[in-house]
Amino acid sequence: MKNDLYNKAKEVLVNNWKEGFSIPCAKLYPFQWFWDSGLIAIGFAHFDMEKAEQEIATLLDAQWGNGFIPHIIFHTESDTYFPGPDFHRSDLHPQASKKYRSTGMTQPPVTGFVLEEIYRISKDKSATLKFIESAIDKVYFNHEYFYNNRDPKNEGLVYIYHNWESGTDNSPIWDDIWDTMNPPEYTFERRDTTHVDASERPSKREYDHYLHIIDIAKENNYSDEKIAEYSPFLVQDPLFNALLIKSTESLIKLYELIGNNVEKINQLKLWQNKAITAFNDKLYDEALGVYVHYDLRNEKPLRFLSSSSFSPLFANIPNKERADRMVKVMMDKFGGDHQYLCASFDPESERFNPKKYWRGPVWVNLNWMLFNGLKQYGFNKVAHRMKQDTVALMENNGFYEYFDSRKEMHKNGDAGYGGNNFSWSAALLIDLLENG
Ligand code: DGY
Repeated sequence: MKNDLYNKAKEVLVNNWKEGFSIPCAKLYPFQWFWDSGLIAIGFAHFDMEKAEQEIATLLDAQWGNGFIPHIIFHTESDTYFPGPDFHRSDLHPQASKKYRSTGMTQPPVTGFVLEEIYRISKDKSATLKFIESAIDKVYFNHEYFYNNRDPKNEGLVYIYHNWESGTDNSPIWDDIWDTMNPPEYTFERRDTTHVDASERPSKREYDHYLHIIDIAKENNYSDEKIAEYSPFLVQDPLFNALLIKSTESLIKLYELIGNNVEKINQLKLWQNKAITAFNDKLYDEALGVYVHYDLRNEKPLRFLSSSSFSPLFANIPNKERADRMVKVMMDKFGGDHQYLCASFDPESERFNPKKYWRGPVWVNLNWMLFNGLKQYGFNKVAHRMKQDTVALMENNGFYEYFDSRKEMHKNGDAGYGGNNFSWSAALLIDLLENG
């Protein structure tokens, strides 16, 4: 299905392409971001496979000697973003890339399933498989890094040590953790709020928390072991772990397609079985009927509903009975006629804010994952609604970073917030129109 919206989406991607990688959007995010890159490659794969492959190749080129892949790769200097490379100081880690400056934290590991998506989309499967062969061991190494370094109790679930690693940066879920911390008041110049209204971005005090966690990691030279011991933020996140599991599944399938690699396939299956069992045992909340985050530092579940709670559907983690229940919760709480699917946080909570970044607005990346998850389980009607809503948001407002979930706010076409001409919104719109 090719229409005006589709062509505009292509234009957004082409405009955000810089030599060898894409920026999420101008000014607000002027570098390469890990999970953005992966999702952007899915969009490019539909009309420019070379760029899709280059996007991933550049990302993987920034991999550290221990398999870690950073969340931002600072390809260029820019004074439109804070905190930049001089604050993050990735060079403190002995195995950091010598070629690229980056952050010392990561982001949801999408690369494995992105490779499989690119293969699905490709019209020249054998050429694409050759590219995948050149990239897949680096992704495997990344998974090895996670399971060997981010799972101190050997549970099968990996931790994140910073809210920026979750991707859901200022979710109200973290408020409980901020309550346990008292960081110093930092003096710094925000740049994000010169591009986007402050009411749509995290608060100054939240930034103090974000910077303080980085400072603690830096004092420990970004050692995973020390971070596991000292970071005040240490969380097993259902979205992050679901995407790792989804990517592992893809690596297994792709290695099987490539042939040989029996040892790697066996290792992946061992990680996978353990991860899925632990995920179902530890992160499912029987009373809420969805999956929740676990605060590993303070040893307690963070019992909130968010769009991340439903993400295990994308990775085939819940059994049919749990999946039924999850979809019922989704439709009861997030899917009323007055709202677009799927708010990023519980619309019935007092912490819900439908304008503020990850505290309520709808995000295209999560909707795309939920759409695919719903389809996988055969929830075709809800999947259809998820797709319609997602397309309507962009049709009515443009390719924004996030959108108001309340339908009443959409009368004037100004219910898109954050950055405009946002790459993954455009990329996943293309995929939804092609594959929905
Ligand atoms: C930001 O600067 O808000 C980014 O999302 C961090 O990844």
